[in-house]
Amino acid sequence: MEIRSLTPHIGAEIIGVDLSQSFSNEEFADIHQAHLDWKVLVFRDQTLSREDHKAFGRRFGKLHVHPMNYKGTGDPEILQVKTTAKSAYTAGNGWHTDVTCDEYPPMGSMLYITETPASGGGDTLYADMYLAYDLLSDPMKEMLEGLVAVHDGAIPYIGAYKSAPPEGGYPRHEHPVITTHPETGKKVLYVNPGFTSHIKGLTGAESRAILDMLYKHVAQTPRLTCRVIWEPNTLTFWDNRCTQHHAVWDYHPDSRYGERVSIVAHERPA
Ligand code: SIN
Repeated sequence: MEIRSLTPHIGAEIIGVDLSQSFSNEEFADIHQAHLDWKVLVFRDQTLSREDHKAFGRRFGKLHVHPMNYKGTGDPEILQVKTTAKSAYTAGNGWHTDVTCDEYPPMGSMLYITETPASGGGDTLYADMYLAYDLLSDPMKEMLEGLVAVHDGAIPYIGAYKSAPPEGGYPRHEHPVITTHPETGKKVLYVNPGFTSHIKGLTGAESRAILDMLYKHVAQTPRLTCRVIWEPNTLTFWDNRCTQHHAVWDYHPDSRYGERVSIVAHERPA
């Protein structure tokens, strides 16, 4: 297995791995370590059945069922990521971390893109939320430590996607604003504009101002990011505990198609 980094701190292409084949515990350990080190792993030229895709996901844990319960593929463990000329929106077209409204958000997601836009575009940007934390000043880090934010599925799923909520509504859970990655022990800035509604204990105006400042910090600091330029049959596996991503919808009226498997985290963000 060869690792070719996309930037010095986030994103790497993994060469020499066929994800349709089962691999040994040693090979799995190498991929696992690369995932922790690089946060975003890109595997090109993969020919995967849905079962292969899910089998790779299961090596890391239980597969996630999306709360929007899309009917797209007929398999609740596979989320369709499909955009055509008729789409009203494209999923993930804004900075976010996947499904942080869940009590146990995914530890990672594996997106397998099989159709890319005919005239280019449709890249995905990923941001390193360890570095986003590190670049904050010490007084800001101190202020954020111990704060808790609410993450609400209604924001994207009803607000942006106009999806009818399931019985009991979409999930809504609280997570610390600064978390510690359960495997690396590193601190993470863990709020995102996709799901975070407010910081508890602050006035509405204070919460809005701090969240907007943090979102601007991510959006306006290009050095946090890497860019995945998809080719058909590329699978990208990101660490959802320490990254945000943004799917760029710059290709209308062209189409893009992929399927995503996510893996439920073993621990709550803490
Ligand atoms: C998502 O998982 O948010 C979609 C990412 C993408 O389509 O690139």
